Amino acid sequence: MITTANRLKTVEEYYFSRKLKEVNQLLSEGKPIINMGIGSPDLKPHASVIEAIQVALLEPNAHMYQSYQGLPDLRKGFCDYYANNFNVSIDSTSEILPLMGSKEGIMHIAMAFLNEGDAVLVPNPGYPTYQSVCNLVGAKTLLYDLKEENLWYPDFDALEKQDLSHVKLMWVCYPHMPTGAQASLELFEKLIAFGKKHHILIVNDNPYSAILNDNPLSILQVEGAKDIAIELNSLSKTYNMAGWRVGMVIGNAINIASILKVKSNMDSGMFFGIQKGAIEALKLGKDWFDSLNSEYRNRRELIFLLCDKLGVAVNRNQVGMFVWAKLPNEYSSEIFIDQLLYEKSLFVTPGTIFGSQGEGYIRFSLCVTEEKIKEAIHRI
Ligand SMILES: Cc1ncc(COP(=O)(O)O)c(C=O)c1O
Repeated sequence: MITTANRLKTVEEYYFSRKLKEVNQLLSEGKPIINMGIGSPDLKPHASVIEAIQVALLEPNAHMYQSYQGLPDLRKGFCDYYANNFNVSIDSTSEILPLMGSKEGIMHIAMAFLNEGDAVLVPNPGYPTYQSVCNLVGAKTLLYDLKEENLWYPDFDALEKQDLSHVKLMWVCYPHMPTGAQASLELFEKLIAFGKKHHILIVNDNPYSAILNDNPLSILQVEGAKDIAIELNSLSKTYNMAGWRVGMVIGNAINIASILKVKSNMDSGMFFGIQKGAIEALKLGKDWFDSLNSEYRNRRELIFLLCDKLGVAVNRNQVGMFVWAKLPNEYSSEIFIDQLLYEKSLFVTPGTIFGSQGEGYIRFSLCVTEEKIKEAIHRI
């Protein structure tokens, strides 16, 4: 056997990749598993999006390599989205780069900005990829705790007391996954001021702003934010296109050029048809979001009911595509979710996969039909 690179020892197979093997084993044994774990939208993209990719397949240049920076219309579509939803103005030629999902952007940003030994502030709880990517590039993770009593916001007093001299980048994610906490403009202003004071690149990962959220925000709304901040966004949840792999990174022209330097060495452009579909998706307006959110709202009400039945506590003001729930004090997340899995055939995510601050919590996905949620309630 050829030995693997040392960096592989720093990461583990992704939780869902491991746990879904266990879930699939139970399914193959005939267990009627309801998967409420993963946030992969089950609803379809808009018909115009499907039509656009179909039509695109017949265009003469459809199967060729595509531009590293994406089609101009796609970049313009992203810019229009930011102008319409956040009142943020972006230069479509230099301040935006399409990505194959925002997840790859997390790696590209780390490759573009981090040297071995640089320190990175990573939220606990938070999306596990931030830490894995730090490990893969040899950066040092400094976890910062988010706590319910502080609205899942960073504790700036505690951060200021830390040695920040080696910190180069800070990951933030609002609306926050997994807790569903929404940022305020004031929080974003504090983050930008913190980044400027300590010369730390602030990266906001923002894929959930359009879901069950009456006040969508972007960190780039803060005056002067582009000087020190980058934002990732994605079509995965906003337009039910998770499998299409379309995202974007937005920042000032110098930062975007640095990310392009990495990315253009990794892939050779996004499939033409996918870009054409994405362009159509980005044209969708209020009707699309109203109908999407009405479906998620109904599902969330049922999940709240399920939570009541389970005796777990929820904050009904949370936003995004999940429900984050607090277990009674004596329960551990992983024991609780295994009990649900093995006794009730319900798969729910334990809060601990998002970090130690997720202990005592579980996360339900809203990517489950109302019928299945009703069945889950019935089982409890
Ligand atoms: C917080 C967060 N960031 C990024 C991603 C990746 O999304 P994408 O499909 O755009 O790669 C996810 C997906 O679940 C997520 O929850």
